[in-house]
Amino acid sequence: MDTKTKATLTLDGKSYDLPVHAPTLGPNVLDIRKLYADAGVFTYDPGFTSTASCESTITFIDGDKGELLHRGYSIDELAEHSHFLEVCYLLLYGELPTAAQLSDFEGRVTRHTMVHEQMHYFFRGFRRDSHPMATLVGVVGAMSAFYHDSLDINDPWQREVAAIRMIAKLPTIAAMAFKYSAGQPFVYPKNSLDYAGNFLHMCFAIPAEDYVVNPILSKALDRIMMLHADHEQNASTSTVRLAGSSGANPFACIAAGIACLWGPAHGGANQACLEMLREIGTVDRIPEFIARAKNKDDPFRLMGFGHRVYKNFDPRAKVMKESADEVLGLLGIENNPTLQVAKEMERIALEDDYFVSKKLYPNVDFYSGIILDAMGFPTSMFTPIFALSRTVGWISQWKEMIADKDQKIGRPRQLYVGEKHRKYVDVRHR
Ligand code: SDX
Repeated sequence: MDTKTKATLTLDGKSYDLPVHAPTLGPNVLDIRKLYADAGVFTYDPGFTSTASCESTITFIDGDKGELLHRGYSIDELAEHSHFLEVCYLLLYGELPTAAQLSDFEGRVTRHTMVHEQMHYFFRGFRRDSHPMATLVGVVGAMSAFYHDSLDINDPWQREVAAIRMIAKLPTIAAMAFKYSAGQPFVYPKNSLDYAGNFLHMCFAIPAEDYVVNPILSKALDRIMMLHADHEQNASTSTVRLAGSSGANPFACIAAGIACLWGPAHGGANQACLEMLREIGTVDRIPEFIARAKNKDDPFRLMGFGHRVYKNFDPRAKVMKESADEVLGLLGIENNPTLQVAKEMERIALEDDYFVSKKLYPNVDFYSGIILDAMGFPTSMFTPIFALSRTVGWISQWKEMIADKDQKIGRPRQLYVGEKHRKYVDVRHR
């Protein structure tokens, strides 16, 4: 950590020096770790809009430039030249792999794609119409009951095994959740298929006929996974870090991240966005929904729009929009009405002063659902696909936190505005 200068806080006539740390990229940070001990005050930052929770080398986002780097490589270049498992290696180990390292890594992931056979019985406890995110949270959390040899967070080898297991098994569990909700038999992974192709196979193959992976869909799904792999200290990643800071096992931490991702303000937005676009139905109804989004008295928000960090454009949304055009064109459904509504909504919103003044642009969730829908996934599978893609980001950030010598349990304080101390009153006198 590069500490160049200091800031001075003056409070009640006293001055306090706050070290200023200079990052490799992005804004300087004020180090307030000793503030409470020295000055007896807390800082106040609901939603952590101005708070750096940790030091990290994994992902950098510049919200004004619309830039996203993974270990220094831009998401645009990775989306064009790389593939998901190579990005997983980059996020986990910090460098692009050599051909030999990539082959070894892909082999290790491939050989861990099956789950313990006993886990099949977990699903039977759920209703068939359970949301796949509900089963995903439950079954991933239960992994800590099956893989006792990778629970010791202090053993680097066990951390490594847990990481490989989760990257390998999340698609299998997500596909099982989908099959269970569809009333179809589970499909085992096939080692001859690549990561995205295997997931399509486990979701759409049925015993009654042969299934051939469509290379257009497999490539598009692999790109979608890359675009969702990691994203700095977003809500679900911060959840994983906070859970991990107590020493909880990695499977429990990832289950916590999945639970947080489910919210419609976060990873649940891709499902909510496609459902919103379908409700709009035709371009002539767009103004009605734009008006609702601008109405302070209406809780409705344009799903897939806006972002805490991106105040120009989400680079992932740009790639996703190009991919939607390419995939639907190759599938011969470029006139898909939902895609037309999405494009027209983007055009109208980006000319509307409300969205321009509040710097609201399409985010990663705006176009992803259109592609996943064209692939045949129900909307309920959109967030599970986000979750299995983000697992590598969560586990990379978790590993970085556990290895951080300054790491301690996360424990924020509060601005208390409740009752002062008062005496108990017996119920006969209330
Ligand atoms: C993801 O953090 C990440 O990196 C997340 C993510 C990742 O990869 O991990 O990028 C994935 O979660 C993307 C976001 C998906 N969520 C949605 O698409 C849901 C719709 N968008 C929002 O709810 C909202 O934009 C957030 C949650 C994404 C961001 O919220 P902020 O940063 O807390 O902003 P805000 O709620 O304070 O809004 C600022 C203003 C408000 O108006 P004022 O109170 O200032 O008058 O903009 C308005 C909001 O009302 N606003 C919207 C809007 N989003 C914000 N108005 C209409 N439609 C919207 N979508």
